[in-house]
Amino acid sequence: MRIDVVSIFPSYFDGLTLSLLGRARSAGILELGVHDLRDWTSDRHRTVDDTPYGGGAGMVMKPEPWGLALDELAAASAPDRQTRPTIIFPSPAGEVFTQATARELSTRDHLVFGCGRYEGIDERVFEYAAALGEVRLISLGDYVLNGGEVATMAMIEAIGRLIPGVVGNPESLVEESHEDGLLEYPSYTKPSVWRERAVPDVLLSGNHAVIASWRREQQIERTRRRRPDLLPDDEG
Ligand code: ADE
Repeated sequence: MRIDVVSIFPSYFDGLTLSLLGRARSAGILELGVHDLRDWTSDRHRTVDDTPYGGGAGMVMKPEPWGLALDELAAASAPDRQTRPTIIFPSPAGEVFTQATARELSTRDHLVFGCGRYEGIDERVFEYAAALGEVRLISLGDYVLNGGEVATMAMIEAIGRLIPGVVGNPESLVEESHEDGLLEYPSYTKPSVWRERAVPDVLLSGNHAVIASWRREQQIERTRRRRPDLLPDDEG
């Protein structure tokens, strides 16, 4: 997979060279390009924002640098990939990002993330981008961040680890929270008693069928307590 990120703060993404995703990049499983939006400006001040038409607080990102950036990155996608990129704009006004979204996006050849700042990006950029690829406005959750960078980092991590070969043991992906629609079961390691707290006996029993059903009950119980919204009505 290829991922391009456009931001006015490219150094936010230095962290992606670390750990799992860093290894995936070195191994050639994931190609990542991080670009400074200001490289597509042509004025002396490298201006990326201006005042909103109609008035109001804050500044709006100008369409011209975005248009040039998207043209260039989408064109780079075309010759060898024959597919159009999926262009993602993190936005609190978008659809909510879930594990299902991460899974869906992990199958794409080319993702382009456009990180907005200030009060947002001129609306015409989203319309224009639809001619270059599939456009998705995606929110991390119902709260407001200062810009799309942190949301993009979170999405790249959630998507990247689902690409085959990125996580060493694929089984560890299956048993996680949200993969089966439930929260994950509690985990324990040695010592079996720590500060007078014992690991549940069932986990020391060696009976795999009993352990599996205990874990399932724990998943349902935790989900009922912490996230009842995830349960179908008959289990809630
Ligand atoms: N930009 C600002 N707030 C955001 C959010 N909640 N999700 C995604 N992008 C954002």
